[in-house]
Amino acid sequence: MPTIHAWGNREGGAPLSRHAVTLTDPGPDEVLLEVLYCGLCHSDLGHIDEQRSAAAEPVVAGHEVVGRVVAAGSEVDPQRLGQLCGLGFIAGSCRHCRHCLSGRQTLCADLESTILGRPGGFASHVKAHQDWAIPLPDGLDPAAAGPLLCAGVTVFEPLFSAGISPTAHVAVIGVGGLGHLALQLARAWGCQVTGITTSSSKTAEILSLGAHRVQLLGELNQQQGAYDLIINTSNHALDWDAVVASLAPGGSLHQLGLCATPIPLRVFPFVKGNLSFRASLTSTPANTARLLEFCARHGIQPLVEVLPMDQINTAIARLRRGDVRYRFVLQGPA
Ligand SMILES: NC(=O)c1ccc[n+]([C@@H]2O[C@H](COP(=O)([O-])OP(=O)(O)OC[C@H]3O[C@@H](n4cnc5c(N)ncnc54)[C@H](OP(=O)(O)O)[C@@H]3O)[C@@H](O)[C@H]2O)c1
Ligand SMILES: [Zn+2]
Ligand SMILES: [Zn+2]
Repeated sequence: MPTIHAWGNREGGAPLSRHAVTLTDPGPDEVLLEVLYCGLCHSDLGHIDEQRSAAAEPVVAGHEVVGRVVAAGSEVDPQRLGQLCGLGFIAGSCRHCRHCLSGRQTLCADLESTILGRPGGFASHVKAHQDWAIPLPDGLDPAAAGPLLCAGVTVFEPLFSAGISPTAHVAVIGVGGLGHLALQLARAWGCQVTGITTSSSKTAEILSLGAHRVQLLGELNQQQGAYDLIINTSNHALDWDAVVASLAPGGSLHQLGLCATPIPLRVFPFVKGNLSFRASLTSTPANTARLLEFCARHGIQPLVEVLPMDQINTAIARLRRGDVRYRFVLQGPA
């Protein structure tokens, strides 16, 4: 049973500190990754802050891992030892329900998350089912690739699975970790792209990320019937009437940000305009591999600030106040 080092807290919201944690050996279909880099996603904050009665084991977040396979179970091809892999929010699914069998594993009732009930990637090592440890293609910088495994594939899903055509006008609300990748992907997809932001200071960067134009969120009510797809990465309450009115006939609002409050939507504009509301949780192993290849081919790369793992509390404090362009990556060893 390997002993690892991991950055976690026992009390919700407390600063992280370094702990020794004992892992069980990898199961027959599991791999153990040595963590080289791990991105800090906004969803990690919810996990770090979650109120809980003093946990016996420290809670360890981190689900944008780039690591190397250092141990593997009996059913794993031994040639995978030493392989450079990425691991996102999901570390396993049942493999035999109808969703898993039809390649829609994120709908599996028995999903295993990388960070729920087990130590995640802010650690020296992390375990995953072999299907979810995705080989990193040549051409991606391992120090910057981690955010593709959650932020990247999450925003790839609305483009890929909804079959968005290159003639579509795509708008992205919120240019943070998810949004800055959504802009790059939608541009490479061939679409007309608008970045919708609360931060006028980001205008030049949003254009350099591939947007054709920038729209201030507070002035969205001036846009009517413009967008075939809105990818909403913000988790804030918005002027939903203005968001819906900015959709073109047949358009879709795809919600990715985890709003804590309900989203009140009027039905009539949806009925009249044949609009749709969609949402999704990250994506599948196959789409993650597709995304990584797409990014390597198009030179799409997360913009990251790399800090050593022992500066994780600084990264968390700065992410809380939106002081990052556009993703922190924590570098091992933990
Ligand atoms: N569905 C999934 O599978 C999935 C996966 C990963 C993350 N998430 C969720 O997606 C959300 C975004 O994650 P992230 O890592 O991209 O976070 P992030 O880096 O903090 O970016 C969020 C962006 O929201 C915008 N924003 C900030 N304050 C706002 C306000 N008052 N009103 C409207 N927009 C505001 C900002 O963009 P501007 O400065 O441009 O306005 C900010 O950069 C989080 O809720 C996270 O939990 C969901
Ligand atoms: Zn995430
Ligand atoms: Zn399943």
